[in-house]
Amino acid sequence: MTFKLISTAALVVALGASAVMADGHSKALMGAVKARQGQMQLYAHNLGVLGAMAKGDVAYDAAAAQAAADNLVAVSGLNAMTMWPQGSDSTSMEGTRAKAEIWSNFPDVGAKAGAMAEASVAMAAAAGSDLASLQAAMGPLGGACGACHKAYRSK
Ligand code: HEC
Repeated sequence: MTFKLISTAALVVALGASAVMADGHSKALMGAVKARQGQMQLYAHNLGVLGAMAKGDVAYDAAAAQAAADNLVAVSGLNAMTMWPQGSDSTSMEGTRAKAEIWSNFPDVGAKAGAMAEASVAMAAAAGSDLASLQAAMGPLGGACGACHKAYRSK
């Protein structure tokens, strides 16, 4: 929650700064950044629902777990093409933590996104069954998020 508030605040500041000087091009880039960060927030929210159950902070609820896992599958199925335009990396503009390396390693980024989508499908097959199955699917899923962040998201 704290993290979410901080990153939203950072985004608002960045938007304010760029709005002053924005031409149509930088507005379009910022729109793409906002969209992919929104996708990431949807990941974080739904992963959080599953994580809270996995840790026992929240009672296991098969329907809610299934809904969260289904959302991860749906959101990971979005076509990334419109949201990662050239020039929207963190060395070219403010308001993003996307490393420039993304644009020189598309096949690897795609593989990491694919691994996350696969882990989401595995979670969707497990989450609604029972808590132990959900817990077992949690590691690969969280690991898939982390692997991409480690390589392609700046601090
Ligand atoms: C294929 C790579 C990749 C995968 C997989 C991935 N992320 Fe990200 N994530 C990124 C990048 C790159 C950024 C920085 C985006 C930006 O600031 O433009 C990011 C940013 C974020 C943010 C910050 C969003 C914001 O508002 O600034 C959150 C939260 C996040 N990711 C959560 C997740 C979770 C949870 C998962 C797994 C369910 C996940 N991500 C999977 C690459 C990935």
